[in-house]
Amino acid sequence: MRTIRVGLGERAYDAVIGRGLLERAGELIAAVAPDARAVVVTDETVEALHRERIRLPQSAGDAVLEPGEQTKSFDRLAWLCERLSDLGLGRRDLVVAIGGGVIGDLAGFAAAIYMRGIGYVQIPTTLLAQVDSSIGGKTAIDTAWGKNLVGAFHQPRLVLADLDALDTLPDRQMRSGLAEVLKYGLLGDAGLFGWLAENGRAVLDRDPAALEHAVARSVEMKAEIVAADEHETTGRRAVLNLGHTFGHALEAETGLGDALSHGEAVAIGCAMAFRFSAAESLCPPSDARRVEEVIGSTGLPTRLEQASGAPFAADALLARMAHDKKADAGLGLILARRIGEAFLAKGVEPATLRRFLVAEGALS
Ligand SMILES: NC(=O)c1ccc[n+]([C@@H]2O[C@H](COP(=O)([O-])OP(=O)(O)OC[C@H]3O[C@@H](n4cnc5c(N)ncnc54)[C@H](O)[C@@H]3O)[C@@H](O)[C@H]2O)c1
Ligand SMILES: [Zn+2]
Repeated sequence: MRTIRVGLGERAYDAVIGRGLLERAGELIAAVAPDARAVVVTDETVEALHRERIRLPQSAGDAVLEPGEQTKSFDRLAWLCERLSDLGLGRRDLVVAIGGGVIGDLAGFAAAIYMRGIGYVQIPTTLLAQVDSSIGGKTAIDTAWGKNLVGAFHQPRLVLADLDALDTLPDRQMRSGLAEVLKYGLLGDAGLFGWLAENGRAVLDRDPAALEHAVARSVEMKAEIVAADEHETTGRRAVLNLGHTFGHALEAETGLGDALSHGEAVAIGCAMAFRFSAAESLCPPSDARRVEEVIGSTGLPTRLEQASGAPFAADALLARMAHDKKADAGLGLILARRIGEAFLAKGVEPATLRRFLVAEGALS
């Protein structure tokens, strides 16, 4: 069991990584909120697979939602707030989110606004949620005009990442989560990236030691970056979006469905960010080639043409990138100086980017 502190002053909390944590959730939650009643928020899939492993001494009931991104909606948010109220949840009580990033984002946002904000605990059950979405306090729902555009910063009181929960996760979801782990290596830890080149497959195969290292190192990196820039005001936290501006454009063009998962889009986006950095002479071309080779070796895509729906129009991708919420103030893009060192490049010229997209196979 590993405990990583997210150092945010009076909002600081622990992220615990280990096995058998679902069974111990009651005791671990009681240690941070002794008298709180709790409502478990989960989805039908996770409920069927894992709900019975969790016993909360002061359970006030469950709120169970449909699995899938469409659950991050105004409609489900309203339903959830009403459900919390029906179950009698008060200001000192807790929301306990058990599931992937969808449940964590929705339940966290409900906790942020219900009675002007109550506490919540994250129990992430996908690799993506364990290494990324459960840490850092970004909560949100999607709207008709874009993903994650209505939300709040609201830090959890505790995060419990139980590696046993990943035993039931489909392989494609594991690979999608691995893309975010690769991202951490690329943006800030060449040693992690080198380790993944050797052990990426072992992580996918759920080798216990490899899995624990991948999750713990990712959480450690995210915790450090979030502690340095909680509300994404200095640019430090922005590097977490490496591969995401390209990736979000691709996800939007492919329809935000099963055709391309978030992690697959991020994998292509990271490879593109390195190739673009190399094309702009910011980073050695040999690093861009190595990024592509290592990502590809885990079975993740690295090229536009591997995304279903390809070829894409360069102008369509460019318009999506300009609208990405992370692209404020000109075209902000996370680029790299080398493997393990990403930075926020401001004012990237759309014409330069357009030429690059065409060179990557987008339609002119
Ligand atoms: N808040 C943040 O900082 C942040 C960061 C990254 C991503 N996100 C958000 O996270 C969401 C994606 O998260 P996700 O990839 O976890 O998707 P998800 O929550 O939709 O989970 C994927 C699928 O796996 C199922 N599932 C969950 N745990 C399982 C398990 N242990 N075994 C079997 N099936 C399981 C779910 O029911 C769902 O069908 C997106 O909405 C994204 O915007 C948020
Ligand atoms: Zn992501």
